[in-house]
Amino acid sequence: MIQAFRLSDDHAGGIMSFKSIEKSKAGFGTLRSIEIGVTSRCNFRCSYCGAYDLQERRILSLDEVKQTVETLPDLERVKLSGGEVLLEFDLCESIVAYCSEKGIHTQINSNGTLLTDEKFDRLEAAGLGVLHFSLNHTDAESHSAFYKVTEKMFPKIVKAIARSVASSSIDTVVETILFDETRDRMTDVHRFAADLGVRKHEIQMEIPGVHQGYENTLSSGAICDAITRLVTARDPRTTIFFSCLSAYFRPDSESWKRLQPLLRDPGVIYASCIEGKAQLHLHSNGDVLICELGAPEVIGNIFDTPLLRIYEESEKLQEFVRSKHEEATFSCFRHLDVQGKKADKPSVTLLPMPQLISRPPQDG
Ligand SMILES: C[S@@+](CC[C@H](N)C(=O)[O-])C[C@H]1O[C@@H](n2cnc3c(N)ncnc32)[C@H](O)[C@@H]1O
Ligand code: SF4
Repeated sequence: MIQAFRLSDDHAGGIMSFKSIEKSKAGFGTLRSIEIGVTSRCNFRCSYCGAYDLQERRILSLDEVKQTVETLPDLERVKLSGGEVLLEFDLCESIVAYCSEKGIHTQINSNGTLLTDEKFDRLEAAGLGVLHFSLNHTDAESHSAFYKVTEKMFPKIVKAIARSVASSSIDTVVETILFDETRDRMTDVHRFAADLGVRKHEIQMEIPGVHQGYENTLSSGAICDAITRLVTARDPRTTIFFSCLSAYFRPDSESWKRLQPLLRDPGVIYASCIEGKAQLHLHSNGDVLICELGAPEVIGNIFDTPLLRIYEESEKLQEFVRSKHEEATFSCFRHLDVQGKKADKPSVTLLPMPQLISRPPQDG
């Protein structure tokens, strides 16, 4: 079996842990992580899906991935996230094995429906670091009704999570999006996952995508309420990771202040956002994006310009990184106009806090 990547930073046994780059508060200047959407194909059609350009049918080959990885001297982590990348299982396995041999930590993001015991064995043997599953429901009926898939899918996901948890080398993470569909069942999903043996639960803020606008988006008050209920009921065996909170809260807002005691809970991690700073997204057609969900701004294409040069020279990226430090801005939804529709001219130039209509992420 190929050994998973070892680093000397924050974790027991030296194995790079989930979100350790985010926890190190990486700044701009060193590209330490890339997320690669090797394929945009998917066996699901999630209403909330914000993945970039799901229509693309091109697949990034192993050689193309290698050529890029080899030019990144500081790369520590490769995340594979599409689409459903396990539709290209052999490719994922080869990339994981290649990265493991180079000492690069790997993560696969999956909806969990395509994994079999044999595939687990192969991913373990290839040295996979993290398997990251989406889980927004606790029963087949509501899962099937929401995703419009057969009820047979949910038990497959549960089985896959249980198999992953049993692995001694793969770290299992379950992610739940906090949005309309889950706000009243966050605690149930959390307990369900904990009872399956999951010890890392990521709570991802819903990022309005260009196709769905703000229709599932909660106000910051509703988010605070849901987080309060969840953290209060946290299973003590688990750690909860919050992602993309800064997309919803101004640092000086009352709701952000209200969240602070909860975020200081010893079982809670609010890792800083490294998108654009220490991580970029590489799409299957070669496009390079600052962040797939929150800032889907194409800043170059690896078939024209090497990734490292894009990172070092993109003015759009530098403007984005600078803007992240400014307050009173709504840094992550800038590709949408005030009504949650795709803006005519997506811009990395900061938009002021938008005057949102309907159910916006509001201050306070
Ligand atoms: C794009 S998916 C690809 C991996 C896999 N197909 C899955 O669904 O887990 C990667 C992650 O992004 C999350 N995601 C997708 N659309 C989102 C959105 N609009 N806001 C927040 N998270 C989103 C999914 O829940 C998933 O955990
Ligand atoms: S969120 Fe994942 S499973 Fe759902 S459509 Fe997008 S890529 Fe597919």
